[in-house]
Amino acid sequence: MPDLKPIVHAVLEQYVLPPGGTHGVTHWARVLENGLRLAQSTGANLEVVRLFAVLHDACRMNEGIDDKHGRRAAELANAFRGKWFTVSDEVFDLLYEACVGHTDGGIAQNVTVRTCWDSDRLDLGRVGICPEPKRLCTDAAKRPEILKWADGRACFQVVPELVKRDWGIDIPDGIRR
Ligand SMILES: [Fe+2]
Repeated sequence: MPDLKPIVHAVLEQYVLPPGGTHGVTHWARVLENGLRLAQSTGANLEVVRLFAVLHDACRMNEGIDDKHGRRAAELANAFRGKWFTVSDEVFDLLYEACVGHTDGGIAQNVTVRTCWDSDRLDLGRVGICPEPKRLCTDAAKRPEILKWADGRACFQVVPELVKRDWGIDIPDGIRR
């Protein structure tokens, strides 16, 4: 399983937005925890779920509409492959697909890609958008207990412990937004 800490730091080296911003480190960490929780039900590939969490917004140029950031993230994943992580072609293809397509708001075919997209959508509460069940791709994400758990964390912009514990990053309260 890839170690996410060096990947997160490599992402931050080239990240042009505030690390504590809407699409920054705490979002990646909540997406990771959302994805891991969903994967317990969906059986999604955990390598893809974990890598997606820290890479999918890595190349955003702004915090608003940035249609091409999914494809740029996929290309960054390609550049990082072999340097910061090693995965099979099958796993990489899913990661690439998940990154490219996450910006379109669609419903994926593959359950791992679906899980990745839902892990991201479940964190929409941080920008005041309540995730609608009909726009989620997995039954797991539509379950009220999961939706409430994830949306509550998103709305309060909870900083997961793993940010400090596993990634060694301090996010002061003042720069969360
Ligand atoms: Fe995201």
